[in-house]
Amino acid sequence: MVKENAKTLLEINNLQIRFGGIKAVDGLSLSVKEGEIVTLIGSNGAGKSTTMKAISGMVKPFAGEIIFGSDNITGQAPNVIVSKGITMVPEGRRVFPNLTVLENLKIGAYLRYDNLTNDIDYVYSLFPRLRERSWQLAGTLSGGEQQMLAVGRALMAKPKLIMMDEPSLGLAPIVVAEIFEIIKEINRQGITVVLNEQNANMALKIGDRGYVFETGRISMSGKCSDLANDPKVQEAYLGKSK
Ligand SMILES: Nc1ncnc2c1ncn2[C@@H]1O[C@H](COP(=O)(O)OP(=O)(O)O)[C@@H](O)[C@H]1O
Ligand SMILES: [Mg+2]
Repeated sequence: MVKENAKTLLEINNLQIRFGGIKAVDGLSLSVKEGEIVTLIGSNGAGKSTTMKAISGMVKPFAGEIIFGSDNITGQAPNVIVSKGITMVPEGRRVFPNLTVLENLKIGAYLRYDNLTNDIDYVYSLFPRLRERSWQLAGTLSGGEQQMLAVGRALMAKPKLIMMDEPSLGLAPIVVAEIFEIIKEINRQGITVVLNEQNANMALKIGDRGYVFETGRISMSGKCSDLANDPKVQEAYLGKSK
């Protein structure tokens, strides 16, 4: 939910990321306002995941800057970035298969020393299915349940900004719809969301604004409703022909 005059929460200026000779991100700028859902779309290899990893501190930029609130977080360590209020739900969920649901949630709060009971309750109220499976090993959950757990774990750090990398990948449509409802609910409660979603149709429906990635740069950006009506976007990403 974006308020009028919402402040900029995240700003990326001229980001460059290289792996050996490969320019995975090549002079990219974007911004996210408080309360927005911002969607990233683009083909495979366009640099979306790498950009998210740079924001969360998992890859180091070659150049450019990443500003969160009033802090320059460029190149800072992942734990520092989590403690400032950014968490990421990685592609492929990455839950700890041999730990229980509850243990996985507690790991999401590893930088906190206050009482977690209310937050665990909050996550269980968003995902009643996780409450029923509190003592179940995460590796035995279905794909959709693992995705819920990964989102729940990211919420346990009490983020201001949550980033989700391909949350719908490999999930049945009915489960995807459920995950998207939760994303909206989290956002209604005041958490800003950056969403990298291969299902561009859904991404542009849920998002406020979007950025189109092409070979490490932004080729287009704007309100999601405008992007969804753009002929180039329709042809390249929404499967509609001219
Ligand atoms: N750890 C890595 N080592 C080398 N190249 C990488 C690595 N991670 C990503 N890349 C390359 O960076 C580019 C962008 O990848 P990525 O950010 O995963 O794209 P997207 O998420 O948009 O599909 C691709 O060419 C990819 O092969
Ligand atoms: Mg990716």
